[in-house]
Amino acid sequence: MKRYRVLVVAALVTAIALPAAAQTDGASVYASKCLMCHAADGTGSTPAGRAIKAPSLLSPAAVKESNADLLVVINKGKGRMPGYAGRLTAAEITAVTAYIRTLQKQ
Ligand code: HEC
Repeated sequence: MKRYRVLVVAALVTAIALPAAAQTDGASVYASKCLMCHAADGTGSTPAGRAIKAPSLLSPAAVKESNADLLVVINKGKGRMPGYAGRLTAAEITAVTAYIRTLQKQ
């Protein structure tokens, strides 16, 4: 119950902190920052993606990862992927994570 309340508070804080919709458009964040490696469809099939061995974001492993796991990778980076904390706002990182989920459902 306590944990639930913490989550509700966190969700409210996030909702209040979200700036204008345009800045939290996950699709446009993805297009400008992630697409060159992960490809429009998330498969990582661009030349840069293949060269750097970007994994498919549609793999069963990626689908299974929690949002929290994805957020850690996007914030801190991993291997040859740069981290985006400080380069994207928290709201943009949340929005792009949600966008990855929509790619996984297509
Ligand atoms: C320079 C190329 C590059 C860019 C740009 C890039 N990534 Fe990555 N990404 C990678 C590579 C390479 C990995 C694999 C890291 C590893 O496991 O060593 C990765 C891994 C990931 C993973 C983890 C996938 C999994 O199965 O665990 C996520 C999520 C991810 N990237 C999201 C993003 C998002 C969102 C952006 C844009 C904000 C982005 N990436 C930008 C190269 C890139």
